[in-house]
Amino acid sequence: MKSIAILTSGGDAPGMNAAIRAVTRSALDRNLNVFGVRQGFQGLIDDTIDQLNARDVGGIIQRGGTFLGSARSKDFREDAGRTKALRNLSKRGIDGLVVIGGNGSQTGSLMLGKLGFPVVGVASTIDNDLLGTDMTIGCDTAINVTLEAIDALRTTGSSHQRAFLVETMGRDCGYLAVTTGLAGGAEVISTPENEVSPAEIAERLHAAYARGKTHAIVVVAEGVKQGTKEILAHFENDRREVGFELRATTLGHVVRGAPPSGFDRLLGTRLGVGAVAALTDGEHGVLIGLQRSELTRTPLKECAGRTKPLKTELLELARVLAK
Ligand code: F6P
Repeated sequence: MKSIAILTSGGDAPGMNAAIRAVTRSALDRNLNVFGVRQGFQGLIDDTIDQLNARDVGGIIQRGGTFLGSARSKDFREDAGRTKALRNLSKRGIDGLVVIGGNGSQTGSLMLGKLGFPVVGVASTIDNDLLGTDMTIGCDTAINVTLEAIDALRTTGSSHQRAFLVETMGRDCGYLAVTTGLAGGAEVISTPENEVSPAEIAERLHAAYARGKTHAIVVVAEGVKQGTKEILAHFENDRREVGFELRATTLGHVVRGAPPSGFDRLLGTRLGVGAVAALTDGEHGVLIGLQRSELTRTPLKECAGRTKPLKTELLELARVLAK
């Protein structure tokens, strides 16, 4: 292997820059040429690919987002797009690719691998819903940003005897909601895997009010069907029964844009170095993850496109602790 390329794909995640830096510098250390692809798989198709040197990745480890840019490419889902991408890689003599991204992106990696191109995935998404790793790059930072919001809302909620609904990200997976609900001492957590109806939320908040609580927190993952709008509507009709007034804050992309935590910088660094090691070992078609504190290589065909199930015992625990 002489030349490799790196791209970041899907939703950006704090720590992606640390991974790009680690891939670049560890590949240069192995005397490989390194190319950075702009805007994910779309950049492979549009041929926005530049050679990177050690200085190009200087001063980025502490920055959120991805300096290469990211995208969710529709064109790459088509045969014609992938053929163009392969042509652009081969005309530069690039013989390996590192894809830093989440589930959809690793499905793209698998597709390219099936066409015979050596690809290694790096597990990165704030959702932490990828199989083949205990934690994905960006999730720890997103947890911390959500927790800061929960803590602030608890303070003002307590002054006014209010309940606050905090909506955090997670379209298909409630990991962020359940971990921040647990660490933020939430009274109720609703996730796509275990949705709590507006009526039950009202009941649980009423019980908390009756127990003398001065505030309450409800954490809702963005992906639930009966979400913020429906819950607020229910409370409009039912406020006297519940006791608390309910206000809502939707965090949205705020949880994705923060500077990476120490954990995410280290994770990005370790996974990035692990990706280059796999490529130079001749092992590709794998996802680099961290399991039980060790770097692991899981075949993409076993993990890409499959959502890691949420540990339901965490939800049960949150319920027990919300007394
Ligand atoms: O996959 C990461 C994620 O942030 C999800 O939590 C969220 O549902 C989605 O991306 C939002 O995607 P976009 O930025 O494309 O709207």
